[in-house]
Amino acid sequence: MLHILFTLSTLYMIKIGEATMYTITSSQFITDSQTISSNDSTFKFGFFSPINTTNRYVGIWYLNESDIVWVANREKPLQDSSGVVTISDDNTNLLVLDGQKHVMWSSNISNFKSNSNVTAHLENTGNLVLQDDNTGAIIWESFKHPSNAFLPSLIISNDQITGERINVTSWKTPSDPATGNFSGSVERLRVPEIFIWNETKPYWRSGPWNGQVFIGLPNNLLYIAYLDGFSVTREDSGSLVKITFAMPNSSYFGTIVVSSDGKIVYTAWMNRIQVGKHVVQQNKCDVYGICGPNGSCDFKNSPICTCLTGFEPKNVDEWNRQNWTNGCVRKASLQCERVKNNESALPGEEDGFLKLQTSKPPDFVEQSYITVDACRTQCLNNCSCTAYAFDAGIQCLTWSGNLIDIVRLSSEGIDLYIRLAYSELAIDSDGERNVTTAIVIAIVIVATIIVVSCAYFFWSKRSGKTHQENQSASLIGDVNQVKLEDLPLFEFKNISTATNNFDSTNKIGQGGFGSVYKGELPNGLEIAVKRLSRASGQGLEEFMNEVIVISKLQHRNLVRLLGCCIEGEEKMLIYEYMPNNSLDFYLFDPVKKKLLDWQKRLCIIEGISRGLLYLHRDSRLRIIHRDLKPSNILLDGELNPKISDFGMSRIFGGTENEGNTRRIVGTFGYMSPEYVMEGLFSEKSDVFSFGVLLLEIISGKKNTSFHNHDQALSLLGYAWKLWNEEEIISLIDPEICNPDYVDDILRCIHIGLLCVQEIAKERPTMATVVSMLNSEIVKFPRPCQPAFIQRQTGHKGESSTQQSHDSNSTNGVTITNLQGR
Ligand SMILES: *[C@@H]1O[C@H](CO)[C@@H](O)[C@H](O)[C@H]1NC(C)=O
Ligand SMILES: *[C@@H]1O[C@H](CO)[C@@H](O)[C@H](O)[C@H]1NC(C)=O
Ligand SMILES: *[C@@H]1O[C@H](CO)[C@@H](O)[C@H](O)[C@H]1NC(C)=O
Ligand SMILES: *[C@@H]1O[C@H](CO)[C@@H](O)[C@H](O)[C@H]1NC(C)=O
Ligand SMILES: *[C@@H]1O[C@H](CO)[C@@H](O)[C@H](O)[C@H]1NC(C)=O
Ligand SMILES: *[C@@H]1O[C@H](CO)[C@@H](O)[C@H](O)[C@H]1NC(C)=O
Ligand SMILES: *[C@@H]1O[C@H](CO)[C@@H](O)[C@H](O)[C@H]1NC(C)=O
Ligand SMILES: *[C@@H]1O[C@H](CO)[C@@H](O)[C@H](O)[C@H]1NC(C)=O
Ligand SMILES: *[C@@H]1O[C@H](CO)[C@@H](O)[C@H](O)[C@H]1NC(C)=O
Ligand SMILES: *[C@@H]1O[C@H](CO)[C@@H](O)[C@H](O)[C@H]1NC(C)=O
Ligand SMILES: *[C@@H]1O[C@H](CO)[C@@H](O)[C@H](O)[C@H]1NC(C)=O
Ligand SMILES: *[C@@H]1O[C@H](CO)[C@@H](O)[C@H](O)[C@H]1NC(C)=O
Repeated sequence: MLHILFTLSTLYMIKIGEATMYTITSSQFITDSQTISSNDSTFKFGFFSPINTTNRYVGIWYLNESDIVWVANREKPLQDSSGVVTISDDNTNLLVLDGQKHVMWSSNISNFKSNSNVTAHLENTGNLVLQDDNTGAIIWESFKHPSNAFLPSLIISNDQITGERINVTSWKTPSDPATGNFSGSVERLRVPEIFIWNETKPYWRSGPWNGQVFIGLPNNLLYIAYLDGFSVTREDSGSLVKITFAMPNSSYFGTIVVSSDGKIVYTAWMNRIQVGKHVVQQNKCDVYGICGPNGSCDFKNSPICTCLTGFEPKNVDEWNRQNWTNGCVRKASLQCERVKNNESALPGEEDGFLKLQTSKPPDFVEQSYITVDACRTQCLNNCSCTAYAFDAGIQCLTWSGNLIDIVRLSSEGIDLYIRLAYSELAIDSDGERNVTTAIVIAIVIVATIIVVSCAYFFWSKRSGKTHQENQSASLIGDVNQVKLEDLPLFEFKNISTATNNFDSTNKIGQGGFGSVYKGELPNGLEIAVKRLSRASGQGLEEFMNEVIVISKLQHRNLVRLLGCCIEGEEKMLIYEYMPNNSLDFYLFDPVKKKLLDWQKRLCIIEGISRGLLYLHRDSRLRIIHRDLKPSNILLDGELNPKISDFGMSRIFGGTENEGNTRRIVGTFGYMSPEYVMEGLFSEKSDVFSFGVLLLEIISGKKNTSFHNHDQALSLLGYAWKLWNEEEIISLIDPEICNPDYVDDILRCIHIGLLCVQEIAKERPTMATVVSMLNSEIVKFPRPCQPAFIQRQTGHKGESSTQQSHDSNSTNGVTITNLQGR
């Protein structure tokens, strides 16, 4: 108690002893004992001495003089306490002067000509700003000239056109803030990375940015609590890249400092108390290229360096002396090299790829927006391509020549496919190998037989006929990933109890193939039960399809299948229960739509896009949903979207990109033109549906029941008309039309219009859509005319529900009820 009183009174005395200053002006300077403070008093700007020296420097610190985030006179210390910080006589520069009025540091603005005065103040972010009093223009700021610390809202950048960079540079030693050997910068602008340099040599790299994380930066370090991640923006068609980072909320603060020995130190505070300090580089494998070209580093091994499989040390003696600088060379020559050198190609001995799991991707990546299969083919067809990898965010990554700075990580990272000669692939058999075509075919055949038998087991009881196209679509591809036995089985009597014997009061919906009931398991878990109606033949197929498709999918934007129940005649799917019904329930209701403000709608749009991206790319199964619409977007307790209803989805095989079907399933208004007209579907058909959905979410209007003065137009046509008249702003639902968000909303509309373009090829992929939504791509192409700009009135399928399918017809159409479930 006494102690607290004492502390309080000391504080009080300091407060009255010296009024806190917030600015430096032409009439107000600071001396060695004075500071200026940020408005919230977290940052101070003033004089300090680093550890083990009496030299005086002027700088900015966070809370405590030991946490310096910026230094002015780093190259020219003051020897005593006679210094001042002031505004220059000509009213343009901030100066640090010593006792003899020598300039020790200057903000060094030469092109500022003004008759007005300037004022320096410290913002709550830690940015020291010099402002023109008259115009308020910022004429200089410390965030544009960082020292060794990277702070939230400070932006490091690299502009290839002007050559301008904003870097951080280390101190020489902990006692000397002069520019040291290490600097941190933004590099490899096509797929940006953060680099730490030891003078001119790379010392550490973060790995490429994939839209969410730097692949190769282990999550347990920087992504440990208290950091809300980085954000990377590319401007001017990618020639300017900016990187910044954020804290989860205003209670937190963090700094990323490049220390004088080249380490990245992340320090976090919560409510002004230091809560964590982490050094990013943990072991020798973090030193750039330590194992030399074509080597790979694993700190769990001893020695840490090994040659990649199929490679051997270039200089064995040096390698054995643990001098890895020369790296490794290929043991057996590649087929493609033999062909190039006019040696005879060995038939059946094509080059292949060996998978190296969870690795930090090597430096000098080249990137292209193509599918995983095209990526592999592209690499295979180019003899200088030595490896490829695929990431949903970056898409195709390839490397040529040296593979430098490969590090094996325990969990994160990427799967690298290293090109190897046939003989090396054949010798190696550690199971990670990406086998040659013949073996793939063999596995597919065996797996197909297994799955067909399993599926037949379920199918045979009810349905004599199986659909050729459905069977092939569901069963080819990565079939060995689908194991029905992995799916938990529920007992019928438990489900019956949970749903009050399928009481009508528990019924929450009617799907294509039966009813949906709400239930509660004895442990309190709420479930939704989809019960296959006994009468539905079509439904059985969809049921099986849904089991196969969804049993292996897990993503927070997909509804989660908890298990199934197959007993006698009964077939049921058990899902997590979504308390908030589906999106259409909110979006098209004049009262409930008020609950969906723009932030919520954006969050729903982003969620759906991530869920779809997962289906198309990340799940390894490659799934086309084919029936995306508001009633198939369920909302959880926080109104987060979950894509549901996989009854019509299709799994795609390795090389297929497009399917063709004689049986059109889906919902008019959401189906792409090539699908409706020709039965062609691909990922781009889902992109089309997504575009329609997006425009519906923004306009709050249903595409299919669209009414306006111009009766002939659909929502797409209406949006297109407004776009061309530069009136697109009036498409926005008045409920969300807030000037603060209009720019964001217009960007989304632009994305929506790109998605509904008539020509499938011109629509972006979901990966591109996600990047556009994240603002990683800022310049969008102009959309071309959307499909279906005329309203399709009186279409025969428009109001029918589940038209029974005639297997003899060549163009059967199954349309789900437009009103949804
Ligand atoms: C801090 O900033 C707020 C908002 O700009 C302002 O109202 C307040 O007067 C400032 N406080 C000080 C001490 O400058
Ligand atoms: C400061 O000096 C002491 C005594 O010479 C030494 O032990 C310590 O390591 C120095 N600290 C730093 C950060 O250089
Ligand atoms: C500042 O940090 C130093 C070293 O970490 C510590 O000893 C000192 O108590 C801190 N001062 C304040 C006011 O928190
Ligand atoms: C100040 O600017 C001039 C020219 O613009 C330049 O030559 C000089 O090196 C700069 N000084 C400092 C300390 O940056
Ligand atoms: C600049 O500041 C000085 C001292 O406060 C004052 O006398 C002068 O009028 C100011 N000039 C302008 C243009 O505001
Ligand atoms: C930023 O770092 C790069 C690479 O080390 C260097 O060439 C450049 O001069 C640095 N720029 C600044 C402003 O420090
Ligand atoms: C920085 O570089 C100089 C010259 O290359 C070297 O003498 C010094 O030891 C280096 N310092 C560190 C911390 O690596
Ligand atoms: C940085 O480079 C210098 C000179 O090349 C070298 O002597 C020093 O050991 C390097 N520092 C580190 C930490 O690797
Ligand atoms: C910030 O987040 C923490 C942890 O989630 C929470 O305890 C705290 O109240 C939040 N602070 C603010 C200002 O939102
Ligand atoms: C490692 O090998 C390189 C190239 O042969 C040589 O220049 C270097 O001095 C060697 N390093 C050591 C520590 O022996
Ligand atoms: C390979 O053979 C072709 C035709 O026989 C010849 O034109 C070419 O120069 C040869 N290339 C090499 C590398 O020998
Ligand atoms: C590493 O392997 C690639 C591909 O085989 C080769 O082009 C390169 O020369 C190798 N690097 C070294 C240093 O031998």
